[in-house]
Amino acid sequence: MNLIEARGLQRDFPTPGRSTFGRIGTQTALAPTDLDIVAGSSVGIIGESGSGKSTLVRLLLGLDRPTSGTVAVDGRPVDPSAPARSLHWLRRLTGLVFQDPYASLDPRMSAGQIIGEPLWALDIPGDRRARVREVLQQVGLDPEMAERYPHEFSGGQRQRIALARAIVHRPRILVGDEPLSALDVTVRAQILELLVELRRSTELTLVLVSHDIGVVQSVCDTVVVMKGGSIVERGGTAAVLRAPQHPYTRTLLAAIPVIPAPPA
Ligand SMILES: Nc1ncnc2c1ncn2[C@@H]1O[C@H](COP(=O)(O)OP(=O)(O)OP(=O)(O)O)[C@@H](O)[C@H]1O
Ligand SMILES: [Mg+2]
Repeated sequence: MNLIEARGLQRDFPTPGRSTFGRIGTQTALAPTDLDIVAGSSVGIIGESGSGKSTLVRLLLGLDRPTSGTVAVDGRPVDPSAPARSLHWLRRLTGLVFQDPYASLDPRMSAGQIIGEPLWALDIPGDRRARVREVLQQVGLDPEMAERYPHEFSGGQRQRIALARAIVHRPRILVGDEPLSALDVTVRAQILELLVELRRSTELTLVLVSHDIGVVQSVCDTVVVMKGGSIVERGGTAAVLRAPQHPYTRTLLAAIPVIPAPPA
């Protein structure tokens, strides 16, 4: 079953200033795109900077309005022009982690308040404090840390808090837009492991934007390659990495440094 279905999804942005002929120009950040995301799958979106990855995921989540085209999540049309309250169903279904853990955490709120906020905002019933302690443990943090403030955490811990907040309401879809790029290798590996574990234990559908093909390789079963606002290649991760069809994917893969195998 398709959990997310995009049809002819397109986003143009006005270009700054006017052209020589006095018209306001537009730039196509996303050319008409169809995309199906199957429930329970894990999709990696890769591609160079400016290729439209964030634009695509923002449209899928109803965080931005398409110039044309449609998105349906769990069979329901997403209408980003609707008042915020009427998109609660979509917020309940989805969790989102951004690249920069510091910018996405309100410094005046304690970790517990930050993590628990979606439970209150989305009116999720149950013992909310207990749920916050539970997810803190799930992301490998001490539940006592709920009392602390963002500046008292390391970068890796902050990203765990952002992840805890994204999963606290038990979404069926977790979307990460470069959620790991601000982290060092060790912390990145720990969070990757956590994502793999979450998928196993909660049947989460994962959509992961990443520059890092190693990341995509370790958690994504499907990969989408973007260039210049279009999807230029898609398929099973193993197949695409083994035999990339599009010249751009080949270039992208060739740019990865390969550590030579030690002599036998
Ligand atoms: N709010 C906006 N206003 C104007 N142009 C925008 C806006 N958001 C994105 N764009 C443009 O759309 C194109 C695609 O941007 P997008 O952020 O989707 O790229 P990306 O693939 O996520 O890149 P990165 O890897 O650097 O995050 C870029 O040319 C960008 O300048
Ligand atoms: Mg981006």
